[in-house]
Amino acid sequence: MSAPPSERTVSPLIFDQGQRGRANRYVERGKALDAFLPRNLLRDELPLPENTELDVVRHYTRLSQRTFGIDVGFYPLGSCTMKYNPKVNDTLASQHEFADLHPFVPDELAQGALQVMHELERSFCSLFGMAAFSLNPSAGAQAELAALLVAKKYFRDRGETQRDKVIVPDTAHGTNPASAAMCGFTVISLKSDTRGRVDPAEIRKVLGPDTAVCMMTNPNTLGLFEERIHEVTDAVHEAGGLMYYDGANANALMGNTRPGDMGFDLMHLNTHKTFTIPHGGGGAGHGPLGVAAHLIEYLPTPYVVRDGDRYRLDFDRPKSIGPMRSFWSNFAHAVRALAYLYANGAEGLTKASQYAVLNANYLRVKIAEFLETPYPEICRHEFVASAQRLKKETGVRALDIAKALLDRNFMAPTIYFPLIVPEALMIEPTETESKETLDAFVDALREIVETAKRDPQSLMNAPVNTVVGRVDEARAARQPDLRWDPHV
Ligand SMILES: Cc1ncc(COP(=O)(O)O)c(C=O)c1O
Repeated sequence: MSAPPSERTVSPLIFDQGQRGRANRYVERGKALDAFLPRNLLRDELPLPENTELDVVRHYTRLSQRTFGIDVGFYPLGSCTMKYNPKVNDTLASQHEFADLHPFVPDELAQGALQVMHELERSFCSLFGMAAFSLNPSAGAQAELAALLVAKKYFRDRGETQRDKVIVPDTAHGTNPASAAMCGFTVISLKSDTRGRVDPAEIRKVLGPDTAVCMMTNPNTLGLFEERIHEVTDAVHEAGGLMYYDGANANALMGNTRPGDMGFDLMHLNTHKTFTIPHGGGGAGHGPLGVAAHLIEYLPTPYVVRDGDRYRLDFDRPKSIGPMRSFWSNFAHAVRALAYLYANGAEGLTKASQYAVLNANYLRVKIAEFLETPYPEICRHEFVASAQRLKKETGVRALDIAKALLDRNFMAPTIYFPLIVPEALMIEPTETESKETLDAFVDALREIVETAKRDPQSLMNAPVNTVVGRVDEARAARQPDLRWDPHV
């Protein structure tokens, strides 16, 4: 790979006496530049790169082609809901009236932007059955932390500071117990039953006067709907605890059922999943936090309030946990999410969820022909396959399958999660993929499994067709090399 243009073409910029004089005067009240810096550090020439627009376009286009994204190919990353991000969302978010607003602009001059946030909040409330949402947190994990801070303050105000336990099922995403621990709670891990669901009887065993919150994901990370959810929410409420809904999987149910109606007190959404906002690589997310009526006053500030036909940011909320981040929120994401909501309407969103479930079940049934699916029943938006049997027979692991998929122009599914499934491959197609794409993915996966049986060694070095080959993960973790090398 050649060096980027900035390394190649260089033309010297010579300072003449006049320029040097001006530079000297600029530095500080007429003091000579030489008075500040040792002579050997002063430059007579300043080499600046000289590139044509075409050079730059080619450089950045080449760089963009070295990565993989949803606009390049199928991205079945379970739990991450990598669906198509409509370009109209970006067009709207980059409108001058939104993109160039200063964060300190007075409310009076930001009425349109505040209206966007208010309408998004109201739409989320009606879609998910909550009383209010804060758009403040920047990610699902940050919203979890915000929710637990809300719970902590709520219990403190009620004089129930002994409530220091958070119950988390063993299928939960790792951020759930991590958020609870960060907030100072003790985590109680709950074992799922043989059908991959939470057993209300098991929950009852750990409930008590010290229960603060029970965090649940529904559908859970196995892609299964928690059928006895009312038994769970009732039991936790009887014990005086709060129910938290991890809404990372909301794409499975939006428009079809509502966490508020299931009895949840708090919930988060990952708009960068369900509401078609670009995400990946841990970057710029958006995790609105929803609450039932009894928790509204604890929401982060600022909160957008509508007074008649005017909107304002309310900072004066004495019981609030305060802001989770600077300024309003990841505001451009609010514009994108609202664009998606209004483009689809209630009926479109309901259908989107239904197609997501249909696509996942189509893949599940096809893939079960050649890989184990440990929970072989109707799934929601995703399902988990396992390479355990294949590994025993051939030595080929879930990791090798994932890498081999990269060679065949598919992004790998999530692997080794949830932890309760050995050699897990967690597959989520989303509603935006066509039957042709799903069939091509099944064919690629089938061919990899056949290759594993015939010539397992050939998969052990995959990927071989990608810009970066297989990395030594243990070494990368122990001896990270974080330098940028322009010549790689
Ligand atoms: C079930 C679940 N909960 C929580 C999260 C955390 O969300 P975020 O990545 O936005 O912090 C994720 C992320 O993948 C998830 O899948």
